[in-house]
Amino acid sequence: MRICILGATGLVGRETITLIARAWPGATLALFASRDQELTLDGKSYEVLGASRLEAQDAPRGDLAFVALDDEHSKRYVPRLLELGYRVIDKSNTYRTDPKVPLVAAGVNSSIIDDSVRLVANPNCTTIPLTLALSPLRREFGLSAVTVSTYQAVSGAGIAALDAFLADARDGYQALDRLGGPFKLSGYAGNVVPHNGGTDESGFSSEERKLIFESRKILAMPELGVSAQCCRVAVAVGHYENAWVTFERPVDLERAASLLSDPAQAPYVKYLPGAAGEGLSALHCVQDRDRALVGRIRPDARDRDRKTVCITVVGDNLRLGAATNAVRIATRWFKSADQDLQAP
Ligand SMILES: NC(=O)c1ccc[n+]([C@@H]2O[C@H](COP(=O)([O-])OP(=O)(O)OC[C@H]3O[C@@H](n4cnc5c(N)ncnc54)[C@H](OP(=O)(O)O)[C@@H]3O)[C@@H](O)[C@H]2O)c1
Repeated sequence: MRICILGATGLVGRETITLIARAWPGATLALFASRDQELTLDGKSYEVLGASRLEAQDAPRGDLAFVALDDEHSKRYVPRLLELGYRVIDKSNTYRTDPKVPLVAAGVNSSIIDDSVRLVANPNCTTIPLTLALSPLRREFGLSAVTVSTYQAVSGAGIAALDAFLADARDGYQALDRLGGPFKLSGYAGNVVPHNGGTDESGFSSEERKLIFESRKILAMPELGVSAQCCRVAVAVGHYENAWVTFERPVDLERAASLLSDPAQAPYVKYLPGAAGEGLSALHCVQDRDRALVGRIRPDARDRDRKTVCITVVGDNLRLGAATNAVRIATRWFKSADQDLQAP
C-alpha cells in the first residue's frame, strides 16, 4: 500500500506520519511539502519532496493520500491526486461545503463512506469533538439547538504561529509583569483574542461559520439551530468548547452519562463525571489525544422543561480534530491494524 502525505512537515502532517505507522505498519510512505527537504521526527529521518513533483507526467500512482495543506494548495493538488488514482482525504476547508464531497467525523457519520467514494473532506477541529458528543445524545433525546463558545489553541493556526507563540510566551512570562505588559497586544501569548479571520457581513468569522455549517452537514440536519463564538487562548494544543444544547425531549442526566460512557453508543468519547470538570482541560486532552473528553453535563436552570443542558467538550486539535479523524476515515477503505483507529 502506497500512502502519500502532502504537508508532511506541518503540524497535522507530522501527526499523520505517526498514526500511519499504527494503522498500516507495512505501508510505503511518500512525503511532500513546499520543497525538497529532510524531516526528522521522533529520531527518524524522512525524505520529503516538493509537492510540485506530483504534477510531472510520470508522477507515481498510489492508494491513499492525506492532504494537510492550506486551501489554495489543496485546490491545486487534490484533483491531481485523484487523477493519479489516490483516494484522498483533505484537511482544508476547500471541499467541506461541496455537496458532492462527504464531510465526515469518524464515529458520527463515517458509515457513509463506501468503496465508491474517492474524496472525503475532514471537518474543522472543533466540529469533530462537538459532533462526537452530540451524536449519541441526539439519538436518545432528539436535537433542537446548539449554542457553543470555543477556546482554541494556537496550534490550530499552524506550525509558524505555534513557534512564534512559544517564543513570545517564554519572553513575555519571563518579565513577571502582573499586567502582561510585555506581550504584543494582538499576539496570542498571554492573551485571549477573537478568532476573527474572514469575518463577513453576518458579523461571524469564518471559523464560527465553519462550526455552524459543518455541524449541520455532519449530523444531516440542515435546519439545526446552531450559533458559535470562537476565540483563541494562550494554549499550545487542545481546543475547549462550552455548549448549551437544547433537545426535543427532557434530558435524563443519568441516561446521558451512561450513553456517553458506552463506546458502542459514543465512539471516541471519554466521559468524565462530576460538575466540577475534573480531568477536563486542554492539557488533559493532550494525554488522551484520539478521544473527545466530555463532561460538566448539567441542566440549564433557565429551562424549566429540562430540555437544555450545559456541556463541555475538549479535544486535541492536531490529533482527534485533524490527523486521527482523517486516518479513521481512511480505515473505511483500508482496515487498520490498530483497533482504536478503526472507524465503525
Ligand atoms: N492545526 C490544526 O489544528 C488543524 C486542525 C484541523 C485542520 N487543519 C488544516 O490542516 C491543514 C494543515 O494545517 P497545519 O496546521 O498542519 O499547517 P502547517 O503546520 O502550517 O503546515 C503547512 C504545510 O503546508 C506545506 N506547504 C506550504 N506551502 C506549500 C506549497 N507551496 N506547496 C506544498 N506544500 C506547502 C508546508 O511545507 P513546508 O514545511 O515546506 O513549508 C507544511 O508542510 C490546513 O488546511 C489546516 O486548516 C489544521
